[in-house]
Amino acid sequence: MTAPAPEATPARVIRMANVAKTYGRNGANVAALRGIDLAIREGEFVAIMGRSGSGKSTLLHIIGLIDTEYEGSYWLDGRLVSGRTAEELATLRNRTIGFVFQTFLLLPQMTILENAELPALYARDRSPQECRAIARARLEEMGLGHRLDHKPGELSIGQRQRAAIARALVNRPRVLLADEPTGALDSRTADEILDIFARLHRDGATIVMVTHDPDVAAAAERIIHVRDGQTSDGLV
Ligand SMILES: Nc1ncnc2c1ncn2[C@@H]1O[C@H](COP(=O)(O)OP(=O)(O)O)[C@@H](O)[C@H]1O
Ligand SMILES: [Mg+2]
Repeated sequence: MTAPAPEATPARVIRMANVAKTYGRNGANVAALRGIDLAIREGEFVAIMGRSGSGKSTLLHIIGLIDTEYEGSYWLDGRLVSGRTAEELATLRNRTIGFVFQTFLLLPQMTILENAELPALYARDRSPQECRAIARARLEEMGLGHRLDHKPGELSIGQRQRAAIARALVNRPRVLLADEPTGALDSRTADEILDIFARLHRDGATIVMVTHDPDVAAAAERIIHVRDGQTSDGLV
């Protein structure tokens, strides 16, 4: 945790240099990322925008330490994380990254309280009672205090995405990542979710949101454009 960042202040929570990723081997290769350079500062709300197939999800999965198979250099919170395995990075991911997905990915047989406390339980540094209390507090902040014992299928889609955001925030991550978080929502519900991101941003959160929709990207304070696996405006 103490390795210095590659550049001085203001803190760049995310820094990538020449990151490249090719899917597949033996002929049928897809070059999904072809040399990404980017920097994201603490407290920024950034949208990564580009057409379908441009490499946005691939990039977000690398940022989120879900995908560790790529070329190039990546520093997260000042630590070089490229070249490490997913297993080596599991603890760092649990404590540093919150991830929100287009389709929520809540576990359907569990209540939203049980869903939201899972990342806290995985962290193994609090009692089950504390984990539950933190999960309850995050869900209450998302306006779901009256739905704690409901399963995802009993909630509206907007409530499901709010529960997923609560789960993503339960360990107070350094970075909140969201892949097309409004892609499965109607426009009114989408606005509600973007309002939540704006509020979290005002409260100091660092947010990286992927979208193909310029109207959604407009909610962010900076837009990084991805085109054919490359970006020309990723650096600050
Ligand atoms: N698991 C995979 N195996 C092979 N190719 C993939 C895989 N995932 C994505 N791709 C390809 O990589 C490119 C970038 O995909 P992706 O990052 O999902 O783009 P986006 O999120 O911008 O739509 C696309 O050409 C896609 O078909
Ligand atoms: Mg995608």
